[in-house]
Amino acid sequence: MAVHLSAGHGGSRGRWLRALFLALVYGSALLLAVPHAAAEAREVRARHGMVVSDSHIASEVGVRILRQGGNAVDASVAVAFALAVTYPQAGNLGGGGFMMLLAPDGRAVAIDYRETAPQAATRDIYLDASGHLKKAEGSSVIGYRAPGVPGTVAGLALALKRHGSGRFTWAQLVEPARRLAADGFRVTPGLSQDLREKASTLRRYADANRIFLRNGRYFHAGEILRQPDLAATLARLQTAGPDDFYRGDIARRIAACVRRHDGLMTQGDLSAYVAKERQPIRGAYRGYGIISMPPPSSGGIVLVEMLNMLEGFDVGRMGPRSAARCHLLAEVMRRAFADRAACMGDTDFVSVPVARLISKRYAWQRRKDIDAHRASTSASVQAGTLVPEPPHTTHFTVIDVDGRAVSNTYTLNDIFGCGAVADGTGILLNNEMDDFSTHPGSPNMYGLIHGPNNDVAPGKRPLSAMTPTFVLRRDGRLWFAVGSPGGPTIINTVLQIVVHVIDDRMRLQQAVDAPRIHQQWLPDRLDYERGALTHGAERSLASSGYALHRRKGIGDAMAVMISPRDGMRIGASDPRAEGAAVGY
Ligand code: DON
Repeated sequence: MAVHLSAGHGGSRGRWLRALFLALVYGSALLLAVPHAAAEAREVRARHGMVVSDSHIASEVGVRILRQGGNAVDASVAVAFALAVTYPQAGNLGGGGFMMLLAPDGRAVAIDYRETAPQAATRDIYLDASGHLKKAEGSSVIGYRAPGVPGTVAGLALALKRHGSGRFTWAQLVEPARRLAADGFRVTPGLSQDLREKASTLRRYADANRIFLRNGRYFHAGEILRQPDLAATLARLQTAGPDDFYRGDIARRIAACVRRHDGLMTQGDLSAYVAKERQPIRGAYRGYGIISMPPPSSGGIVLVEMLNMLEGFDVGRMGPRSAARCHLLAEVMRRAFADRAACMGDTDFVSVPVARLISKRYAWQRRKDIDAHRASTSASVQAGTLVPEPPHTTHFTVIDVDGRAVSNTYTLNDIFGCGAVADGTGILLNNEMDDFSTHPGSPNMYGLIHGPNNDVAPGKRPLSAMTPTFVLRRDGRLWFAVGSPGGPTIINTVLQIVVHVIDDRMRLQQAVDAPRIHQQWLPDRLDYERGALTHGAERSLASSGYALHRRKGIGDAMAVMISPRDGMRIGASDPRAEGAAVGY
């Protein structure tokens, strides 16, 4: 088999040279195959500020705020509300997420507005009388028992209060979204297709059926989608303030609807919700700083752990699509995802050995058993089934004129969340409860197996993979900000972009475009997008023990870089979806 790796510590010289030879042969041929010119044409450059999001309309909303003197946080609040209207698959009021902020002076903070489990949620809440996971209604996936207490409105309010420029009021930043909801916007081909795909769930719930399926008349691309209920809710948020979502009229409506449908969340749960500021995870990769999301996301820890393991290898010498590179990445992913399953969870409830997991020493031990010739097995625990997920969390990135940056990932979890709208509010509710370990040993929607640290408990936040991240230059200044949707593939998407930029010296758009691979410990297989492996690599990986699985669309990254050369903002949106970079 032709996969050869050399660890920085300890590989034999002959093997190293052979690996180098192969890597150079594969590498040089492959670098040529990466569409450099296409990437150059697609990326957007601007002098002052940049917004990259999954919706062109939302990116424009953000840039308007920047142009009027708003900072990246002001713009992000407006973008997040606008996405809740124009990208209802994942943009939301009824979900949650993480916002990473980086100030021009280098101070970083993570805003955690992840959903929490309602008080009525206990460890076995999703099991039936015979101990099996419930399906459909009553499950952690569909309907009114699936939502965690939404954090988005609290998170955006916290971000604005602590880090906004003070030049815009809350109401002003909600206004573009309110108007889009009231006047409507043109449905994109992607939204039209996603609505059809989710129709069987959406049609179960009266309001979702009326708003998003017009009671059975699908929206075609180009038609106008208006959301008057959501417009009224946004208007209420403008006049009554964010607290209304948790303690006022909006809270009462959500709670009443959930109660009517035998759901879990109460008004008490809503009024107890708090968004939190947390210390980010910090790491370093070949001298470049990494700042990413701490628990309850696994993203920052897993990313830094993987990069630490990779640091022991000369990754840049292996062609991006070579067997050697893919084998190494897969082994590193397998180990870090195994650790994720074993011990990660909400650190407000359980103890996670964060410092150890992100230490260089631990990575050194962890990579020692990577076999240069053979795939290891994920063994020991039953294999999960991995359902390919559509990219329906959403990430946006904003950099303003002062270099202040926001990297924000938020979500309803599955596309259109649990499928239900809180009656009369236009708010789609999440199904984030499925990110908990709902049944020991059973894979969740993304095929992930979790340990007891991620069991359901009242008030607890489910473990996430969302990885909003900043990468710093060697002088400590911001280089680029990046993140992605994609369930567990999020972390590996961010990893590969970081490796492409640092080790492969790709331009940002090229790194975002490049085909990706994914390994998540269980199930024991290696997913890859078309073009991610050469034919030779495919054969060689199969013969070394990998179960290869071709898959469409791993991740949907949104990134912005500050050019170290001239300070230009470089925006890169992922060609896998309909996102757009807009700058000024
Ligand atoms: O927090 C998480 O890890 C998941 N709820 C993210 C879901 C996601 O990215 C869906 N998109 N494919």
